[in-house]
Amino acid sequence: MPIKSRIRAIPDYPKKGIMFRDITTLIKDPAGFRLVIDGLTQRYLENGVDFDVVVGVEARGFILGSALAYTLGKGFVPVRKPGKLPADVVSQEYELEYGTDKVEIHLDAILPGTRVLLVDDLLATGGTALAAAALVEKVGGVVAEMAFIVNLPDIGGERKILDKGYRVFSLTEFE
Ligand code: PRP
Ligand code: ADE
Repeated sequence: MPIKSRIRAIPDYPKKGIMFRDITTLIKDPAGFRLVIDGLTQRYLENGVDFDVVVGVEARGFILGSALAYTLGKGFVPVRKPGKLPADVVSQEYELEYGTDKVEIHLDAILPGTRVLLVDDLLATGGTALAAAALVEKVGGVVAEMAFIVNLPDIGGERKILDKGYRVFSLTEFE
């Protein structure tokens, strides 16, 4: 079964009008989790995107970001929700498809000039990914590419990210 048909749709979660794309049904199955990690690993082994570290966004970005960092032989840096990181941080506010939030990264997590693969499960408005990219850049890093399992192109995040000059890769998309 392909990745797309393993993702469950939950209407009106967490708010009316949102079609929630639930990847838990994809990754609970070893074959599904393998499809995701192998698909992303393949891309970064083969296509020559040069990067030093994987950055993943809490919480769902941790699940695939850490597995992908492992298969590619890279380290993993977490971008976290506020108040979770113990050392000095930089912060960035952003808007979600269903609210606003803030993310943080350790000030010393990424050395100036480090090339970053930014990873999350899903791209909707692009708010989270752009906030994470802003954090990487605030501490001197360079975003080599942004990788997702799911892209929701109709919501416009991909367009926004491409217009800002970033590279985007996703394994599947929903209208
Ligand atoms: C979801 C998802 C992405 C983000 C995508 O996370 O995991 O991080 O929304 O939406 P955007 O492109 O409109 O920013 P959420 O904030 O729901 O948090 P979670 O990972 O903790 O569930
Ligand atoms: N994050 C933002 N929008 C989402 C959606 N429609 N499904 C799952 N996660 C999301």
